[in-house]
Amino acid sequence: MNKIQHLQSSFTLPNSSILQNRIAKSAMSENLGTSNHAPTSTLIHAYKVWAKAKPGLLITGNVMIDQNAIGEARNVVVEDEQHISLLKQWANAANKTGVHIWPQINHPGRQAFGSINKDVYAPSAIPVKVKGASALFKTPKALSEKQIVAIIERYGNTAKILKDAGFTGVQIHGAHGYLVSQFLSPLSNIRKDEWGGSLENRARFVLAVYQNIRDKVGADFPIGIKINSADFQRGGFTEEESMEVLRMLDAQGIDLLEISGGSYERPAMMGATQKQSTIEREAYFLEYIKKARKLVTKPLMLTGGFRQVAVMEKAIADGHVDIIGLARPFAMHPKLCIQIFEQGLETLQAPYPKSGIKAIDDTGSLELLWYELQIKRIGEGKQPNPKLNGLRGMGRNVWVSLVKSFFKN
Ligand SMILES: Cc1cc2nc3c(=O)[nH]c(=O)nc-3n(C[C@H](O)[C@H](O)[C@H](O)COP(=O)(O)O)c2cc1C
Repeated sequence: MNKIQHLQSSFTLPNSSILQNRIAKSAMSENLGTSNHAPTSTLIHAYKVWAKAKPGLLITGNVMIDQNAIGEARNVVVEDEQHISLLKQWANAANKTGVHIWPQINHPGRQAFGSINKDVYAPSAIPVKVKGASALFKTPKALSEKQIVAIIERYGNTAKILKDAGFTGVQIHGAHGYLVSQFLSPLSNIRKDEWGGSLENRARFVLAVYQNIRDKVGADFPIGIKINSADFQRGGFTEEESMEVLRMLDAQGIDLLEISGGSYERPAMMGATQKQSTIEREAYFLEYIKKARKLVTKPLMLTGGFRQVAVMEKAIADGHVDIIGLARPFAMHPKLCIQIFEQGLETLQAPYPKSGIKAIDDTGSLELLWYELQIKRIGEGKQPNPKLNGLRGMGRNVWVSLVKSFFKN
């Protein structure tokens, strides 16, 4: 029997799009836009390299919907058609490979560095608290209702422009402590109006974002969402609430539900808060998805921790998930699907780079920057370098902005 037959099998999404196998690259912020937030040739080339090895789906790093609300200085921003020809080139990176490319669309809300955002807005005026790095974030201003409605409209506009550029779907970033997840969590959303309080009210934002996109892209265009299984904080968004939101999105017509968890405050998505036993078992959120499977009808994708091909194959064969999401392994294995399907690779590598300086390592920012550098190498036509020095990798500019923003706040 073929040891990877389930992973290799194609999958048809509810809108009839066909993914040629069950492996998806999960979103990784590349930070490879120009200073005015257009895609660079390095970014586009990275997607050409990834597409050549034919995974089922490539979800891009988060693309922002507003240039005044960015997560990183070099995020791609799509709020009008000014970069449409470069966006077309990016979408065309999958040319003739049968690979789908879906941009992940995002608004950071309060999880936005003060040094690169003039004003920071969130559901409520509650700042991010990250051990050793809280000074990097400004206390946000609470959004007015009018601003909320305008942001919802932006998600739809961005999605429509991306569809027109030729991308074959979009994903809403509803996880990891960004704006959608801030609305869902009672720790960051203490609003007293119809956007806060009960779960029904906290979920109003994500449902409105979904519906706005759907109205603009039409019934047949796939819309996925990445959502937290929980935010893993006392008094936060719980597993039960997350399941309820899944049910709401399922009923409304979402095409793919990707499960993750955590935020900058509690980076469960990177394995930081997982018990050693969970890391060894891989697939941080597998127990959650087994329960979710019974509640929803729409396809499920699971991301976080997968490294053994046999574990991925089993998760699909057992019927727990439809699509396997991989992030860091794609930065280390640009030809990941060729290695698995044609060369028999059984274990993917994705090291945990450490600086040895606890305050830096606790924030997880070094790891993100290290992986971004690997993606940049792929985009430059080089091989990833597992021996890259983490601290040096942070680069002078990052150090300067870290120090500056520390004194500024
Ligand atoms: C460099 C880097 C950037 C990331 N950026 C995003 C992002 O833009 N959007 C997102 O949903 N997750 C992002 N993530 C999280 C990954 O999608 C994924 O959830 C996490 O790395 C766990 O999966 P893995 O164990 O396969 O790496 C990022 C991770 C890395 C390493």
